Amino acid sequence: MIVFQDVSLVYPNGVHALTEISLTVARGEFLFLVGSSGQGKSSLLKCVNREVRPTEGEVIVDGHGLGDLRPRAIPFLRRKVGVVFQDFKLLHQKTVWENVAYALQVTGASSRDVLRRVPRTLELVGIAHKSKMFPHELSGGEQQRTAIARSLVNNPLILLCDEPTGNLDPDTSSEIMALLARINAKGTTMIVATHNQAIVDRMRRRVVRLVNGRIARDEERGRYHVGLG
Ligand SMILES: Nc1ncnc2c1ncn2[C@@H]1O[C@H](COP(=O)(O)OP(=O)(O)O)[C@@H](O)[C@H]1O
Ligand SMILES: [Mg+2]
Repeated sequence: MIVFQDVSLVYPNGVHALTEISLTVARGEFLFLVGSSGQGKSSLLKCVNREVRPTEGEVIVDGHGLGDLRPRAIPFLRRKVGVVFQDFKLLHQKTVWENVAYALQVTGASSRDVLRRVPRTLELVGIAHKSKMFPHELSGGEQQRTAIARSLVNNPLILLCDEPTGNLDPDTSSEIMALLARINAKGTTMIVATHNQAIVDRMRRRVVRLVNGRIARDEERGRYHVGLG
């Protein structure tokens, strides 16, 4: 589903964010991307939706090399690849319903489609009862559920989550990760960049660790740190 072939990324300021990354993520896989701040996690995720372009190597998403993707094709890529952030990035003047509906409307969806898909998605993430609320009226966990609904409403093949629990308390973090696991179980390929050691250790999924822009570890059923327990 996602293939990195010898990908390196040097930002215009000369920072080597990624170096010779080779990685294959299968359809339906759930992968934790770990590593301390500044090791390249966000940069790797940004290569998947072509927010940044590698300096070298190729990223292949759903069979398409992103290197020679036409600008016109980028909106289609972005529909296949949902993103969820630490700080939610909701539209503050729109309700929960409107935030999620808007993500569909910008793709040209019919109002019939919107009326069908928005409630279903709100239901799926457990936020349907707050659909008329504004983001500032919600808890952090509820805001993140809304953001996840907004990413999911277009039925993405892939969901990239960049420290999705970074602003949440431990219990809420567990609930959000459980939601991501449920979404993954329905078939969405998932990459979750996280510092949440407790959750990584509990969930025992594939763990890829970045150190200084390189893959330092890649383990099935891994833990946050190697060699513990
Ligand atoms: N747009 C950018 N321009 C220049 N350097 C950047 C940019 N984004 C990130 N970096 C640098 O690239 C390195 C990796 O950053 P990042 O991918 O954000 O790491 P992480 O998500 O693991 O904290 C860091 O040294 C960071 O300062
Ligand atoms: Mg980051």
